[in-house]
Amino acid sequence: MTVRRLADVEVQPPHFAFTSDNLAWAEKTIRKYPEGREQSAVIPLLMRAQEQDGWVTRAAIEHVAAMLEMPLIRVLEVATFYTQFQLKPVGTKAHIQVCGTTPCMLRGSEALMDVCRSKIHHDQFHTNEAGTLSWEEVECQGACVNAPMIMIFKDAYEDLTPERLSEIIDEFEAGKGDVVPTGPQTDRVFSAPATGLTSLTDEKAVTKSGSSKPARKAGADAGMVAPSQAAKPKTAAPETDPSIKSPSPVKADQAKERAESVEAPKENKAAVDKSAPEVEGEAKRRKHADKKDGATAEHRAPEVAEGEPIGPAGRRRPSEKKAEPGKPSPEGTDEVKKPSRSRKAKTDDEGGAK
Ligand code: FES
Repeated sequence: MTVRRLADVEVQPPHFAFTSDNLAWAEKTIRKYPEGREQSAVIPLLMRAQEQDGWVTRAAIEHVAAMLEMPLIRVLEVATFYTQFQLKPVGTKAHIQVCGTTPCMLRGSEALMDVCRSKIHHDQFHTNEAGTLSWEEVECQGACVNAPMIMIFKDAYEDLTPERLSEIIDEFEAGKGDVVPTGPQTDRVFSAPATGLTSLTDEKAVTKSGSSKPARKAGADAGMVAPSQAAKPKTAAPETDPSIKSPSPVKADQAKERAESVEAPKENKAAVDKSAPEVEGEAKRRKHADKKDGATAEHRAPEVAEGEPIGPAGRRRPSEKKAEPGKPSPEGTDEVKKPSRSRKAKTDDEGGAK
């Protein structure tokens, strides 16, 4: 993230004023906003100031703040936040903004920046010797599908190669920037797939305008639904009958409706916080069982329920001794509390037996 500061004092012009045409445009723009909301015009006015002088000067920021009766800091915040505002002098014929965000980077934006470095200046925000060209790296410009791309003033040039960018720079330098076509620089149509259509390839068979009768028949035979029918319900249910109009033309008879309607049950304040009887019953049963002997068998872990306590202390291995039916579980007895024989002792025994 770059720190955006105003240009040095030496290059700042002392005054700014809109030309008469731009002033009329600015006043008209301010009037587009409701009374008390004129400050919303800050971005268009700064843009117009930039178009007039080529970059946004400190004097222009002060002028816009005065026109909109805004605190200077608010206008400064806007001007320094958006990268569309150039805060230093840029090339008079072209300022090239190269998108360096991931999709463009993966599709070769680094090579485009190399072209700018070699043809304009090694560093961004510096003009070439003639002061006609400059460049900078910017974040995503919203044309990722046609990456890599650049912006020059308000226009986007997409699907670029280093060679094509080099040609575009030459044309701007020669003052012929207005003849360079904008958008994709390949034969791609807007953002259609670069390798040609992969779906809707037989679109003619299903569209009204481009289809012939045989094509329509072919589409119907293939089970395709024409776009005009696509949203229609595929059911014969009477409520989907398109002839049914809503709301009903028959005026509702309120007295009749009242007579036919069922009264809502009265609110039972005593029962309002109670659960359903079966839920209440289960809660009571559990509470009772817990008081008696802790968790009931069905709420214990299976090992515990079977008399095989295993736990963090590892008191007894499941294979060692099971509780005998009808006798209390050995859990908690001295036998269980004694540490089980160590693995080493067991191994020694086994070794001796061999
Ligand atoms: S990443 Fe370059 S336009 Fe979006």
